[in-house]
Amino acid sequence: MTVSDISHLIISHYHPDHMGIAQDLVDLGIRLVVLDKQKDYLHQSDAIFEKEKNQTFKPIVDELTLVISIRNSRDFLAGLGIDGEILWTPGHTKDSISLVLDSGHAFVGDLYPLDQVPLFKDATIIKS
Ligand SMILES: [Fe+2]
Repeated sequence: MTVSDISHLIISHYHPDHMGIAQDLVDLGIRLVVLDKQKDYLHQSDAIFEKEKNQTFKPIVDELTLVISIRNSRDFLAGLGIDGEILWTPGHTKDSISLVLDSGHAFVGDLYPLDQVPLFKDATIIKS
């Protein structure tokens, strides 16, 4: 498999360690799929890269993204031959999403260890 075999990219949330090379991948021809719950957070890490004087980071070009509704994620994924759906799983961040396949496998970004979840006393984290 090579990068050219990858058609689409979804990002669990837009913290810098999860999205830092997103635009580089878009520049290689990969379509960045943004869930509607995420579109206001695409640039939340830009200031961090700027503060670090990162010379290689490229901010996401909004016009090149494909924004889809999280409610339509199953249909979107089916069009790619993937049986599953994307869920909004806020808690770690407001823009956190998870890909859950019908096979039972899940792709999740940062999660708090289950034994630590009650310590946050946050209903959103517990529900996610
Ligand atoms: Fe994170």
